[in-house]
Amino acid sequence: MSYYHIKHLEEYFQVYRKSVRDPEIFWEEIAEEHFLWRKRWDKVLNWDFNKPEVKWFEGAQLNITENCIDRHLAAKGDKTAILFEPNDPNEVAVHITYNELYERVNRFANVLKSKGIGKGDRVCIYLPMIPELAVAVLACARIGAIHSVVFAGFSATALSTRINDAECKMVITSDGSFRGAKTIDLKGIVDEALETCPSIETVLVAKRINSEINMKADRDEWLQPLLDKASPEGEAEIMNAEDPLFILYTSGSTGQPKGMVHTTGGYMVYTAYTFKNVFQYNDGDVYWCTADIGWITGHSYIVYGPLANGATTVMFEGVPTYPHWGRFWQVIEKHKVNQFYTAPTAIRALAKEPLSHVEGHDLSSLKVLGTVGEPINEEAWHWYNDNIGKMRSPIVDTWWQTETGGIMISPIPFATPTIPTFATLPMPGIQPCLMDENGEEIKGNPAQGRLCVKFPWPSMARTIWGNHQRYKETYFSAYDQKYFTGDGALRDQTGYYRITGRVDDVIIVSGHNLGTAPIEDAINEHQAVAESAIVGFPHDVKGNALYGYVILKETGEDRNQENLRKEINQLITERIGPIAKLDKIQFTSGLPKTRSGKIMRRILRKIASKDTSNLGDTSTLLNPEVVQEIMDNVL
Ligand code: WT7
Repeated sequence: MSYYHIKHLEEYFQVYRKSVRDPEIFWEEIAEEHFLWRKRWDKVLNWDFNKPEVKWFEGAQLNITENCIDRHLAAKGDKTAILFEPNDPNEVAVHITYNELYERVNRFANVLKSKGIGKGDRVCIYLPMIPELAVAVLACARIGAIHSVVFAGFSATALSTRINDAECKMVITSDGSFRGAKTIDLKGIVDEALETCPSIETVLVAKRINSEINMKADRDEWLQPLLDKASPEGEAEIMNAEDPLFILYTSGSTGQPKGMVHTTGGYMVYTAYTFKNVFQYNDGDVYWCTADIGWITGHSYIVYGPLANGATTVMFEGVPTYPHWGRFWQVIEKHKVNQFYTAPTAIRALAKEPLSHVEGHDLSSLKVLGTVGEPINEEAWHWYNDNIGKMRSPIVDTWWQTETGGIMISPIPFATPTIPTFATLPMPGIQPCLMDENGEEIKGNPAQGRLCVKFPWPSMARTIWGNHQRYKETYFSAYDQKYFTGDGALRDQTGYYRITGRVDDVIIVSGHNLGTAPIEDAINEHQAVAESAIVGFPHDVKGNALYGYVILKETGEDRNQENLRKEINQLITERIGPIAKLDKIQFTSGLPKTRSGKIMRRILRKIASKDTSNLGDTSTLLNPEVVQEIMDNVL
């Protein structure tokens, strides 16, 4: 039996029991056998959820890029590491072998060094899904710089907030990006962001769309000429297992985005381990995750997890709809993709289109299908299973978070029997539990409650950049000695978990995690707006869409409401990005509030969802009369 590659359900249970009984021995064996360390650890695990402090493989030294690249060169140097499929299907796909990746990462690493970037420095990467993005990430890791990738759909304001929070010294971007038939002026967005980012010394610019852009003297430089001059060789910086590898921002229910800090050794071990098991990757397979590297899914399951296993990982620059709705299936056929990992929102959108888009394509290479990012509804699950997997390929519904670094609850294909809408069983080493309102763990099955984890796992985020107190309050204060996920879940008779959704003020729209507070802040900047509240409501493609309740200042009352709606969405686009735009905006004279002044979002959520059968007791509200007004005018 191998801990590293689980093949049967019985084996899963054995491995799982072992991982709970002797977690340190379990992870030590995996770390020892499957990775390259420069120095062995002194202690496998040190933890205290009160502080909170978690350290894995303390004292060990390594470089993650030696594990993702160098160690594969002898046996797999000519194997494709990254397979780049461009936005335009007529542009040739690029196969980057492990040998080539080694050289490209070294060149880039040497450029970073020549620009004064060293161990511990923060580098912001704001790039589209082109090979330079993966290479930049790995180049940072090679020299011990901490990458902070910002999804290239975020606005200038969102970008500058993130750059300033981490005090990045450099931005790596491109002249622009392709998105279906459109181009986006990324460099223009960076220029605007950098007006308020004093820590930035250098901007490296990759050429992608050949647009005319502004290059600021003494700050901006074209990337390619620097790469051409740089050496393709270079020693990897030796890092401690607990040195930060990257920062990745995620929204919270309040305030600024949280810069989740992931460290090196544990993150590597866990993402590699889960990649192997959740996708049952075998040498020679072609694996494709459609996420963007700007999200944790891309970090862990496009870059680090697959490369640590010597896999071939597809990087797709385009969108599912361009040049037609059959693009995903065309790419699967073209590259003979074996494992395909996408989001429920994409499946729902594709399922709405005629099946003819699927039917023309040979999908027989597929072995495993995955989903991530939000609960997958039963209808979408069946569509995926019937039409894409042809009832042959198991669907892994993977539950996890930016904070968890890797997949936490998921079936293991060909081992765990799947049930639609259930993420099923915890990965080895993961000890989930459900908590009730009194803060007690609910034992026994079935059960429903708030999802927590009661024991550390190697890839958990170690802190929030610059704000350990917030880390403690957000994740370790709701329940004693437990990591609180922010999700609700139920556990059925057999112990299978089903994630029911967020229980806080985070809303998952098209798989994107959006906090209500920053959106409300953006709306409130409008001079005609007095107050606002955002809730989610069910949407058949996006999963949830955003519904805004807006109170106007008196001076705003005679304004054209349609124009106001446009202006509000424009403000949101500028402050956060188009993904946070509201689908519906209802103007109202008031918002239901408790006597202590807290907005009763529960009521607003029900009204927006057209589910007003049981609004609960509204008589204790400060202003119960407003509930009827809101119901009468619901959109
Ligand atoms: C939140 C985390 C992890 C990568 C993408 C999202 C929701 C994620 C599932 C799933 C039900 C899911 C949760 C979670 N979520 N996967 N399989 N079933 N819900 O990362 O942006 O940090 O969002 O996404 O609500 O807390 P993220």
